[in-house]
Amino acid sequence: MFASLNQKISLADKLLDSIAGDYAPATFANSYGAEDMVLTDLIAKNFPAIEIFSLDTGRLPQETYELMAQTTLHYKRKIKIYFPETAAVEQYVKLNGINGFYDSQAQRKDCCHVRKVEPLKRALAGKKAWITGLRREQAPTRKDLSDSEFDKDNSLQKFNPLIDWTEQDVWDYIKQFEVPYNALHDKGFPSIGCAPCTRAIKPGEDVRAGRWWWEDAQQKECGLHAKQPA
Ligand code: ADX
Ligand code: SF4
Repeated sequence: MFASLNQKISLADKLLDSIAGDYAPATFANSYGAEDMVLTDLIAKNFPAIEIFSLDTGRLPQETYELMAQTTLHYKRKIKIYFPETAAVEQYVKLNGINGFYDSQAQRKDCCHVRKVEPLKRALAGKKAWITGLRREQAPTRKDLSDSEFDKDNSLQKFNPLIDWTEQDVWDYIKQFEVPYNALHDKGFPSIGCAPCTRAIKPGEDVRAGRWWWEDAQQKECGLHAKQPA
């Protein structure tokens, strides 16, 4: 028997409530993807103590910047933006070229490290927990995740309140509560990251097929959610 959307909302709310109570200071990593707009809505409505931050890699699509501005107006909530270290980006570009991430998986992961993973570490410093919009059904790399796990890399608890949500649940929520969302979702982009590493998918393709489309699906993670042995 599958849980209804209302049941899933109430479970997510309960989890957020216990995070706010037991893991302060807690922070939510908002990529402005559809899942994260659901979490932004839930947190903005009921959990002022949970911080929200976003990582601006410097290579995001224009539509994402438009949504960032729209979200601030809509929710009147502060969302802190972290940027990569200037010197690290300059060094990366000097070594690999401005689009060096297309040349090898190692260069792609180095770029994600400089533009996402290092800023994430600064965003999580001093926090007891972080919250993400990961869902199990998104990718083969995510099928064994649970709603709470210890993040050894960053030494704090990690919560995934939408872990059991389907893509349909996410969109039902967005429509029902009139949540703002990225204009690219209506142009064939179910999953959105940096502009040069994301493209539209064709009907029937996997939802993450447009992310790092030139790489193997089993390995498509940027390092924010490194798989760690237990
Ligand atoms: S990624 O690792 O492949 O880029 P994905 O886009 O599926 O991740 O997002 C999964 C979760 O990682 C998001 O729900 C969000 O919590 C976090 N995340 C990804 N990108 C960012 C970002 N730019 N800023 C903040 N959080 C992010
Ligand atoms: Fe660099 Fe692409 Fe990773 Fe963005 S997704 S940080 S542009 S490799």
